[in-house]
Amino acid sequence: MLLSVRLHNLPKHIAIIMDGNGRWGKLKYNNRNLGHSNSISSINMVIKECIRLEIPYLTLYAFSKENWERPKKEVDFIIALMHDTIKNKLMSLDENNVKLSFIGDIGDFPNSLQGIIAEAVDKTKNNVGLNLSIALSYSGRWEILDAVKKIILSGLNPEQIDENSFNNFMQSKNIFNPDLLIRTGGEKRLSNFFLWQLAYTEIFFSDTLWPEFSLSEFREAILFYQKRDRRFGKLNSNYNEASN
Ligand code: IPE
Ligand code: IPE
Ligand code: MG
Repeated sequence: MLLSVRLHNLPKHIAIIMDGNGRWGKLKYNNRNLGHSNSISSINMVIKECIRLEIPYLTLYAFSKENWERPKKEVDFIIALMHDTIKNKLMSLDENNVKLSFIGDIGDFPNSLQGIIAEAVDKTKNNVGLNLSIALSYSGRWEILDAVKKIILSGLNPEQIDENSFNNFMQSKNIFNPDLLIRTGGEKRLSNFFLWQLAYTEIFFSDTLWPEFSLSEFREAILFYQKRDRRFGKLNSNYNEASN
């Protein structure tokens, strides 16, 4: 039975570490790359559901800086898959008012992928629906170091630097901090994703391998978020001083 989510108190930004593709491919077809190609249907599902629920921001962690250390055969396969997927999906994303952006060190990729990324960003730049960000050749430490370098070059004085001004030098400056982070694939770690942005994010860990992540479990993650008491270090609104 499909869960239905409450339409109030929805997260404004959902970020997903889509992990477990390789293991799924290995288990099912003895081929890690088939796990990567079968990841696309789960991606389509979360995009569609975010559009339906009018969730304004969705960020997908698709390739980390550290993932370059994998065998060349796997890296080349993933790059080709990203190229073909962006190319094939661009028209329908645009028709659905999705605005695409990419975070990470995009210059690391071959020109052909950089070209399709630039085309996707340009084609969807005036869309006002879902803000879909894809993290590619991304690492949280890289983004923070990149911001520090830009701050030094800007000549700002230390007293001019606070969380807001620092954030303005981050590549992801236009994306809200995530309210909900989902990590599939069973590991309970951040793997260098959004280290600055996740300070107060609610985290849903799932053992499901990403190609099998279902609409029902996505809704379960949103319901989990809706039940959290987000205190941000303060006390919750039900706290009664008289009761200590
Ligand atoms: C996540 O799935 C996708 C990428 C990191 C590119 P993995 O490829 O890490 O899958 P597992 O964790 O090895 O199963
Ligand atoms: C995190 O998964 C990166 C992405 C999903 C893109 P990894 O598979 O690279 O992380 P580790 O190696 O399990 O920490
Ligand atoms: Mg993995």
